[in-house]
Formats: sequence, C-alpha cells, structure tokens
Amino acid sequence: MAESIPTIAADIAKAWTLPSRFYTDPELHRRVIESAFAKSWQFVGDLDQVKVPGQVYPTTMLEGGLDEPILLTRDMHDNLHCLSNVCTHRGNLVCEAGGNERFLRCRYHGRRFNLDGSFLSMPEFDGVEGFPSASDSLPRVPFGTFGKWIMAGVDPIAPLADYLRPMIERVGWLPLNQFTYSAQRSRDYLVQANWALYCDNYLEGFHIPFIHAGLNDLLDYENYDLELYEFGILQIGTAKGAEATFDLPSDSPDYGKSIAAYYYWFFPNTMFNFYPWGCSINVVKPLTVDRTKVTFIGYVWDESKLGSGAGAALDRVEREDEAIVELTQRGVRSRFYDRGRYSVRRENGTHHFHRMLERFLND
Ligand code: FES
Ligand SMILES: [Fe+2]
Repeated sequence: MAESIPTIAADIAKAWTLPSRFYTDPELHRRVIESAFAKSWQFVGDLDQVKVPGQVYPTTMLEGGLDEPILLTRDMHDNLHCLSNVCTHRGNLVCEAGGNERFLRCRYHGRRFNLDGSFLSMPEFDGVEGFPSASDSLPRVPFGTFGKWIMAGVDPIAPLADYLRPMIERVGWLPLNQFTYSAQRSRDYLVQANWALYCDNYLEGFHIPFIHAGLNDLLDYENYDLELYEFGILQIGTAKGAEATFDLPSDSPDYGKSIAAYYYWFFPNTMFNFYPWGCSINVVKPLTVDRTKVTFIGYVWDESKLGSGAGAALDRVEREDEAIVELTQRGVRSRFYDRGRYSVRRENGTHHFHRMLERFLND
C-alpha cells in the first residue's frame, strides 16, 4: 500500500501544496482512482441517446480511469435505466452497439435480459440449483440527470442533486433541454501530464494574465470571483465590456453583472463551462499517472453568440493550458522539487481541491 499524503492545512496561509509524488507515483494514482473517482459522479451521456422506448446505448464510465462498461436503456414503459453492461454469466459485454431492442441478449451463450436489466432467460441451464436468483440480473448503476445530461457513479458519496446543488440553483434558469450537442465543439485533447495538474491549473485564475493573453483582454481579472462548495467550485468570469455576456433573469444573484462565463468544476474531474452560447462540458480522464485525455463535449443553444467573448477561442486557451501543464509535469518529477505554497488571494480553488483529495485519500 502506498503511503498516505500529508495533511493540507485548512488555513491556506499556513498550507503547503500536494507533494510531488501525488503526480508521479503509479500506485498512489491507482488509489486515487478507487478512493476518489469511484465515489464521484461522472458524465456518461445525454437523454438524446436514449430518447425513445427500446433505445439502448452502451458506453464506458470514465474511460482510462474507472473503465466501467455501462448501458443506458429506455424500457417500454418509458423508464430510463443505467445498468452494468457485463453479463452475469461469464462476464462478456452484453450490448456492443446502440440501437432499438425489445430485450438484451448476450451473444456469448444466449442469456437474455429485459431492458430494465432483469434476468429473462438462459439456454441449457436446467438443473442449476437456485437459478435464476437476483444476482443473475444486471446490476443497476446509480445515475441521475441535470438538464439532458446523464451522470452515473460506481458508489457516489452523495446524491447527485446534493452534489450539483449550487449549480442547479445558480444556472437552472437556462433552457438546458434546448441545448443541442455540437460535434464541431466536441473533441479530445491528449495531455502529457497527471490529471490533477490539469485540474490544479483549471481551478485558479491566477495564471490567466500570464498564460492567456487573448482571454485576459476579455476578462476583468480584478473581478474574477470564486465560490467553494462541498463537492465543487465555481469561478465566475466577468467581462470587461458588455458584449457576449449572459442575459440574466432578475432573480439571479448575479443580476446586473456582466457575466462572461460560469466555470463549474465538480470533484474530481468534471467541468461545466457555461457561456452565453451554451456549455462546454470537459471530462478529465486519467489514462495513466502522467497521461490525461481531456474530452470537450459542446452543447449550443444560442448560435448567434458563438463567435465572441470568453467562450469563443476555447481551442487556443486549451493549447495554452496544455503547454504549461506539460512543463509542470516535467518539473514535479524533479528531485529538487516537492511542495510549494499557495497565494492566499488567488489559489483558493486549487487549495480546496487538494483538501478534498487528501480527505478522500486518507479517509
Ligand atoms: S457470458 Fe453471457 S451468456 Fe455466457
Ligand atoms: Fe487556463
């Protein structure tokens, strides 16, 4: 068993950052997957993928990290299900491709399941004692929705509504059901760095004036707000000008402000970046201890706002972030570096994230 990581002081003025081995030790990395990722909520798809009764959609919960084969289905009673996609016989994957089905059939030896995952039939099993039992049905995977987005988890630490509450309350006024998936705004980025270094960077606006000259021209750095929650962090980008900002409803706590972006992050690896044109969901996938895939999944609802503001040049900002995070990965491998200190003013988000990681790891 890998050693635990040192306590991150609650008082940021006294605190030291995560030790460098957190970003480099493969065994510690595997522990993080089981202790943090397995207890979190993960983005797994949207309701358009299981729109009509009979529709099935196999996917993987957190590719590269949890790598859990799951299956979304909508049964004939119009109920949505999230199931383990692993056959209860000898473990083959049950559903290999999306489509419309009346039942599920494992093609290895012909076991069949209803679309709600319950066991239906199995050939050549006469004389098997105590069969079928409850454990012959496909296990149900905890899941929930926010707008049309589906989140699932192995063993989530809290109900989804509690996990996401601050975001649901703050941006729930948006017409989330009208958000449309955009292939053009969706893509993968490979980053040669630990997943948490990518998040460390995302969770502070401190680097914006240094690393993102273009973005810095649009955002009002002095009014870059941050809110810390039990399971997440909100960063609010305020625009310098009035163009490309949200038309906020009068009951929004931000009414009257020039908000260019709401950057929500939920522990440990999911970002919902809301811009006036829609949302870019970013899923940070830990492939190995020092390799990460960041998947951008774009949803648009107001095409007319696509070309301007903080959400316009996402690809450039992403490349600027990747380059600096990859250099940092090389740095944290150094024998001459272990830990640093935080800016009390500018690194509260990163500090909060490190405290959460420490809590999940050492619990
Ligand atoms: S593994 Fe599915 S029927 Fe045998
Ligand atoms: Fe950045």
